[in-house]
Amino acid sequence: MTGQQSILITGAGQRIGLHCAKRLAEDGYHVIITCRHLRQEWLTEPLKGIEAILADFSTMSGIEQFIDTLRSRAPKLRAIIHNASLWLDDDAGADAFQTLFMLHMQAPMLINNACLELLDPDRQTDIIHLTDYAAQQGSTHHMAYSASKAGLENLTLSFAKRLAPSVKVNSIAPALIMFNPEDDQAYRERTLNKSALGIEPGPDVVYQSIRYLMDNCYITGTSLTLNGGRHLK
Ligand SMILES: NC(=O)c1ccc[n+]([C@@H]2O[C@H](COP(=O)([O-])OP(=O)(O)OC[C@H]3O[C@@H](n4cnc5c(N)ncnc54)[C@H](OP(=O)(O)O)[C@@H]3O)[C@@H](O)[C@H]2O)c1
Repeated sequence: MTGQQSILITGAGQRIGLHCAKRLAEDGYHVIITCRHLRQEWLTEPLKGIEAILADFSTMSGIEQFIDTLRSRAPKLRAIIHNASLWLDDDAGADAFQTLFMLHMQAPMLINNACLELLDPDRQTDIIHLTDYAAQQGSTHHMAYSASKAGLENLTLSFAKRLAPSVKVNSIAPALIMFNPEDDQAYRERTLNKSALGIEPGPDVVYQSIRYLMDNCYITGTSLTLNGGRHLK
């Protein structure tokens, strides 16, 4: 990995995170992903250009252990992308808010601070927070999720102020990107009808947004709305 630029993406063992990791690896980056367990299929079909580190961010010790592991590998980071998330609803139990706080706010805060020294000093670098459209809107059934994503939006502003001009810090705030396999037809139709464009775009629109933020030298402290015109309806 000597000399090669790395990109860290948290929670990228599946879906949006894994898709973006593969696309960034195809672009020539060494990609480091975190996940809580390795996937069986990676044994038969190893991920090309992607290194996985096991990490659970629900406790302080889990976050600190990950930071120690990452530092010991001393990658030269081009970008840090905080994607790890849980879409817990408000019936998920008394601990849910604490878990979401750890995942969406505490882990990004500690990882950003601890990994600044790993960001490539020879060029402008990026930190990108994956938040949610609900952070701006609130939610009737995902209040803790939305509040913790709103906290991450605010961390975007503070880190952007603190780290300019060497590091740009932005968030991407998606509405529907991909359904979960268990989502039924009625839910799918209801959700599709909420946006002006009315489609399930799939994870490449997140990759495109990451590339846009990384490739543009004049954007920091911004939340990039990725919602198919949901605010128009
Ligand atoms: N999907 C959408 O339509 C949509 C809409 C709005 C916003 N977003 C945002 O976009 C991002 C990606 O969405 P997604 O649907 O691809 O998410 P996802 O499938 O739920 O994946 C999130 C990842 O977070 C990891 N994670 C969960 N709890 C963790 C913990 N305690 N410690 C460390 N990692 C943990 C999981 O890792 P393991 O699998 O290894 O357990 C999981 O792979 C998220 O930030 C989400 O909030 C997505």
